Amino acid sequence: MSEIIIQGGRRLEGTVRVQGAKNSVLPVLAATILHPGQTVLRGCPHLSDVEASIRILRHLGCSAQWEGEELVVDTSSMDRWDVPDHLMREMRSSVIFLGAILARLGWAEMSYPGGCELGPRPIDLHLATLRRLGAVIREEGGGLRCEAHHMAGREIALSLPSVGATENAILAACGAEGETVIVNAAREPEIEDLQTYLRAIGCAVRGAGSSTVCVEGRRETHDAVHTIMPDRIAAATYLAAVAAAGGEVELENVDCRHLSTVTAALHEAGCQVEGGEGRACLRSRERLRAIGTVRTAAYPGFPTDAQALLMAAMLRARGSTMFVENIFANRYRHVDELRRMGADISVAGRVAVVTGVPRLYGAELRCTDLRGGAAMLVAGLSAEGVTRVGDIHHIRRGYEDPVRDLRALGADIRLET
Ligand code: UD1
Repeated sequence: MSEIIIQGGRRLEGTVRVQGAKNSVLPVLAATILHPGQTVLRGCPHLSDVEASIRILRHLGCSAQWEGEELVVDTSSMDRWDVPDHLMREMRSSVIFLGAILARLGWAEMSYPGGCELGPRPIDLHLATLRRLGAVIREEGGGLRCEAHHMAGREIALSLPSVGATENAILAACGAEGETVIVNAAREPEIEDLQTYLRAIGCAVRGAGSSTVCVEGRRETHDAVHTIMPDRIAAATYLAAVAAAGGEVELENVDCRHLSTVTAALHEAGCQVEGGEGRACLRSRERLRAIGTVRTAAYPGFPTDAQALLMAAMLRARGSTMFVENIFANRYRHVDELRRMGADISVAGRVAVVTGVPRLYGAELRCTDLRGGAAMLVAGLSAEGVTRVGDIHHIRRGYEDPVRDLRALGADIRLET
C-alpha cells in the first residue's frame, strides 16, 4: 500500500511543466478507433486512466505502445466491439468508447457504468444522443447491446451540456450519414482538442468550444500526429498548492485562457497571478483572505474539478468562503478528511462554508476521489507536521507524478511503498 508523506510548511519556489490533459486524452484515445490506421499522440500523460484506455483498445484488437513520450496507437486490426465489465469498472468514462465503436463497426456491447465516488453518474444523455442518430440500444442485465448500422445525422438537443454526452455524440456522428448538429453542447476546451484531433484524421467537425457543434459524417480518414492540450486542472492543482503553502512558482505548458476563473479566485484571495504565452506565474506572500461565493458551473464557469483544490487553499484564509457545487451531487467527500487536519468546514447539501483557521495540523488521510485526494496534498503542504495520504490510486488516475513535480518546487514530499 503506497502513501504520500508530506512534511508541511515549506514555501514552494521554481518552475514545473504541466502534463497533458487527462480529460482530453481519454476521448482522443476512444476517437482513435474512428481511423483504421495509426495515430501518434504527443504530450500524452502517463496516468492509470490512460492505461485503462489502452487496455480497452488492446482488448478491441488494437495496438497501443509507448515510444518515449509518445503513445502510438494503431486500430487497423480492431476485431471486437465489446468492452468487458472489469474494464468498464476501471474507469467510469470508458462509456466514451460507445460512440466510437458504433461509428466504426455499427455494433457495440458494454456493461453499464454505475454510480461512482462523485454520486450517481447516469448515462441517459449519452444513450439518448445515440438513439437519436438511429442506434438501437437494449439495456439488459446491467449491460448495453447497441446496434447502429444505419446511423443518420440529425439535430441533437442536449437537455444539459454534458461533457461526455457531447463527446459521445460527436464520435457517433462521425459514423453517421449526413450532418449532425449538436445543440446545447458542452463548451469545455477538451472538446475543442477532440475536434482538433478528429480534423487531423480527416473528420469534418466544427463549432467545438461553442454550444453548437456540427459534424459531417463518414469522411475518409488518414494517419495523424496530435499533441494533447495542457491539463488545466493539474495546473490549478499546482497554483492552489503555491497559494496555500506560499512562495512563487512558474508553470509551463499552460493555457491561461482555460484557467481564468481559477486564477481570478486566487487573485481575489490575495495572490499575484501573471499569465503569459504558455505559462503562468503565481506569487503568494501572505495569509490568504476569504473570497466571494465560488459556484461550480459548466465551462467557462468555475470547474467542479477545481472545487476541492480551491477549498484546500482557503482552509487557512482569513474569513469564510462559501462553495456551491452545482455539477455533482456528492462532491464534498474530501471534507471529512480535511477536518482531521483542523479545518473548519460545514456542509449542507450542495453548499460548503470554509472558515479559515490560523493553523492546520498534519494527519493521516485517505483519498476519497481523484480531486479530493489532490486537495489533501495541497492542504498537507500548508499544514504543520506530517501528513500521510493513503489510497493514492485515486490520484494516479489523473496526475502523472505529483510527488516529482512538488519536490521540484521544493516541497518536502515523498512516496512510501
Ligand atoms: C467530465 C470530466 C470530469 C468533470 C465533468 C464536469 C472527463 C473524462 N471527465 O465528466 O472530470 O468533472 O466533465 O466538468 O472529461 N449527466 C446526466 N446524464 C448523462 C450525463 C451526465 O445526468 O447522461 C449529469 C452528471 O451526473 C453530472 C452532469 O451531468 O451531474 C455533468 O456531467 P458530465 O458533464 O457528463 O461529466 P462527465 O463527462 O462524466
